[in-house]
Amino acid sequence: MSVPESGHPSIAPARTAKTTTGFTHTLRFRLMLSVALVHVVLMGVFVADAVQEQSDRIQAELYSRGRSLVALTAVASTNALLTEDLGALAEIIQRVKSQPDVVYCEILDSRGRVLGTTHPERLGKELPLLVAKPEQFPLAAGDHILDLQERIRIAGQTVGTVTLGLSTVRMDSALARTWREGLFFILAALIVGSAAAWALSLLTTRGLHNMMEAARKISRGDLDVRVPANSQDEAGMLAIAFNNMVASLKRASEDAAQEHERRTQAERLACVGEMSATIAHEIRNPLSAIINSVNLLGGDALNREERTQVISILNNESGRLSRILGDFLDFAKIRESEPTRADLKGLIEEIANMLYQDHRTGKHLHLTVSCAPDAQTAVFDRDQMRQVLWNLMLNALQSMPEGGELSVRTRRDGEKIMVSIADTGCGIAPQFLEKVTKPFVSSRKGGTGLGLAIVQRILVQHDTQLDIVSKQGAGTEVSFQLNGVS
Ligand SMILES: Nc1ncnc2c1ncn2[C@@H]1O[C@H](COP(=O)(O)OP(=O)(O)OP(=O)(O)O)[C@@H](O)[C@H]1O
Ligand SMILES: [Mg+2]
Repeated sequence: MSVPESGHPSIAPARTAKTTTGFTHTLRFRLMLSVALVHVVLMGVFVADAVQEQSDRIQAELYSRGRSLVALTAVASTNALLTEDLGALAEIIQRVKSQPDVVYCEILDSRGRVLGTTHPERLGKELPLLVAKPEQFPLAAGDHILDLQERIRIAGQTVGTVTLGLSTVRMDSALARTWREGLFFILAALIVGSAAAWALSLLTTRGLHNMMEAARKISRGDLDVRVPANSQDEAGMLAIAFNNMVASLKRASEDAAQEHERRTQAERLACVGEMSATIAHEIRNPLSAIINSVNLLGGDALNREERTQVISILNNESGRLSRILGDFLDFAKIRESEPTRADLKGLIEEIANMLYQDHRTGKHLHLTVSCAPDAQTAVFDRDQMRQVLWNLMLNALQSMPEGGELSVRTRRDGEKIMVSIADTGCGIAPQFLEKVTKPFVSSRKGGTGLGLAIVQRILVQHDTQLDIVSKQGAGTEVSFQLNGVS
């Protein structure tokens, strides 16, 4: 059985949800990353295309210049070749050599003899061409010389050959410069794009962030929070809708609080009325007995023996009255709990042993205390817990007048320590079980019925409640939980 804790209807602090997230998981970061990536990819494609185009253009220009030069050289050297005028050929070679990018130039006769060359050691010799595969264009990767060849023909007869080598170094460095400039543009696009994306994401997600902050405050119970709604766009409209929602939430919460206050007041009055009626009922019997006894003692109709009997009744009833009022004061005066870390096992053993000594005489009573190693300390108000354990164990022993088994156990369940007190006594009738924690409910002769009411109030102050499982004729187990020590 459980007694509900009285709750306030205002917004309860929400259970802590995971509301913070790493920067890489934020909308801002994703927006920034995607815009920056789009920039980089587009610029990369654009730059690669531009470099390829420039490379093709420079190579074509180099090839056409080389072809013109080698053809001109062939024409210019025809006569000198026929007359084997080495001086004229050398002069032609010199002029060709002075052209930009020329690495080598040779004029060979029909037998392959070198008659003019930029490499003097080859002059006059019949040597293979300077390159095995002339005129490979476009150039193979890693090849930095464009080799060209032109045959010198007269009336369809080949009388000689001109070979020419042009260096691609200038072309390569121009391309490298283009690449460097392209990379610079990519980097600049990355930086500018990221900055623009960051600014854009700040603007678009600022409203969301404000709302997230506000939602956090609302979950902590602050309903006065509002978010700025300055813009006319969707974000501004969302902010206005959010503010309206919080305002109506606040109105609903205030209405609920007022309603709760009204109900609590009414319940309190009803409770006071019920309690007064119960107390009046409880004290009326002993009080009537006392009044009757006093009246009888005031007259002279009683003999000595009857007087003694009436005085004894007077004593008993006034004692009962005093006990009822004392217990009620205990119940009414329960102070605020001051929970601290304390030795639960020691307290249970101390009370169990004390009660066991008082009740064991003349019957077979078996007591077991078992506390799991990780459930021997807990957080509780020591004096109040003493009262709780005392009342519960006393009830258990009182339910076994002929003897039986009382076992007290503690065990850990996550953060909590479960405490249970089980007996093999008379048990509680199901229809009575509902009421046993209410004040002045008792089936025991001489009991005031405040024991479990006091227990329940103390446990509620410890954020827990009493669970009772009972089977008539078989026994009862009462249990509650405490905060464990981590
Ligand atoms: N372990 C138990 N076994 C059987 N009945 C129980 C047990 N604990 C409580 N009860 C029933 O609940 C009733 C209320 O218990 P409670 O402790 O509040 O009052 P009480 O024991 O009658 O009087 P007192 O105020 O002196 O404690 C008891 O009278 C008894 O009928
Ligand atoms: Mg009791």
